[in-house]
Amino acid sequence: MKSFQNLKAFMQAPLQLMTDLEQGQKFVRTRLGPKSFVFVYDANYAREILVQASSKFPQNRMVFDRIQPLTGRKGLVQMEGEESKNTRMKMRTLFSKAPMADAQAITEQYTNDLVAELKKNPNVDIAKAMHNLILRTALKIFLDVDDPKMAHEIGDMFVELNELCGSRMRSLLPVPLIIPTKQTLRIKKLRQGIRSQIMDHLQKRTKTMHGQLVDVFADDPNLLDHCMTFIFAGHETTASSLAFTFLLLAKYPEYQKLIQQDSKMATLVYKESLRLFPPAYMLARQASADVQFGDFQINKSEQVIIALASIQQSEKYFAESKEFKPERFAEKSETQGFAFFPFGNGAKSCIGERLAYVEADVVINKICQQFTIKGAAEEIFADPMITLNARSGQVLCFT
Ligand code: HEM
Repeated sequence: MKSFQNLKAFMQAPLQLMTDLEQGQKFVRTRLGPKSFVFVYDANYAREILVQASSKFPQNRMVFDRIQPLTGRKGLVQMEGEESKNTRMKMRTLFSKAPMADAQAITEQYTNDLVAELKKNPNVDIAKAMHNLILRTALKIFLDVDDPKMAHEIGDMFVELNELCGSRMRSLLPVPLIIPTKQTLRIKKLRQGIRSQIMDHLQKRTKTMHGQLVDVFADDPNLLDHCMTFIFAGHETTASSLAFTFLLLAKYPEYQKLIQQDSKMATLVYKESLRLFPPAYMLARQASADVQFGDFQINKSEQVIIALASIQQSEKYFAESKEFKPERFAEKSETQGFAFFPFGNGAKSCIGERLAYVEADVVINKICQQFTIKGAAEEIFADPMITLNARSGQVLCFT
């Protein structure tokens, strides 16, 4: 019975379950429904699983298959081994110096638009505002789309699809997509809606800008899946992390002033936000062999959850770990180095990390230079979907 209670808890409040299970252990084995899961709470072992022993810990198919409506079947997120390695090599050009300079200019332009809007309407739902901004930016950077209406429509569809796929991801027995239910039909409709909007755009597109996703993969049969993956992975996480950053800045206004005085402070604040509210709050793998870690063995076929959020908030690695203290990132500390990994680690780590920091630097600095941010509530609300999202409805005031 306990296993089904755990399963229910995992579906309804995965972060809480991760916290409740820990109790000072490095590994916790538990059953969620019929399956055996190992939760990993140790930063060294997490790194070993993701880096040195990664070939024995491939992606957890149960999880990754269920996010396919969002990433396509053949987007980078879904690839393993040589195929993934080769695709990542090809994608490197997208994050080199010149495209990053373009990305910075695009982010600046769209953030200026947001600044102008905020001057007219100072109260905004921060989660929505960041989603709109970053999706618009991602569509322009990767696909050369500059159409606010399309960005808005795709954004709404992505948010709903993320929610639906997120609850399927945590369910052990979701109805297969081929069986028509209200939920599966809706998922298919949303998936199709997004893909056809992108497809329409690709067909209409005549101008080519050097170094964009659509050019680098122009002849690739998986182009549409790469587009889906990049737009999903490239907007959802960055948008949430920025929403959390502004919620934190409203709560700790002294850091708004520090950013105004020194633009480099924005990165420290952003890192602390990524530590406390990591968009990828857990990483899912599956053991393909028995692997020994000290006196603990992970058995072949077990589901492995790297408890990223728990590790990043552990007192073992960060003094006053629950407190908001951006200055902790000013000094390079050995412990923080491996216990802070919001972009994952190893061969499947985030390919867009550099872009996320470029975008965050522009958005945080520009907004803090122009406004005082108010409207903090006692608590910051976060919803664990596929990624951790700032709950919509949290309104901040920019004056
Ligand atoms: C704050 C922002 C971001 C966070 C916290 C984040 C986090 C992550 C993490 C943790 C992973 C690894 C997942 C795993 O190991 O299972 C990942 C993978 C990935 N991310 Fe990000 N990401 C962010 C922004 C971006 C951006 C801007 C892009 C733009 C393209 C992007 C594209 C990807 C892709 C394509 C993968 C899959 C890589 C692979 O499987 O080889 N991410 N991200």
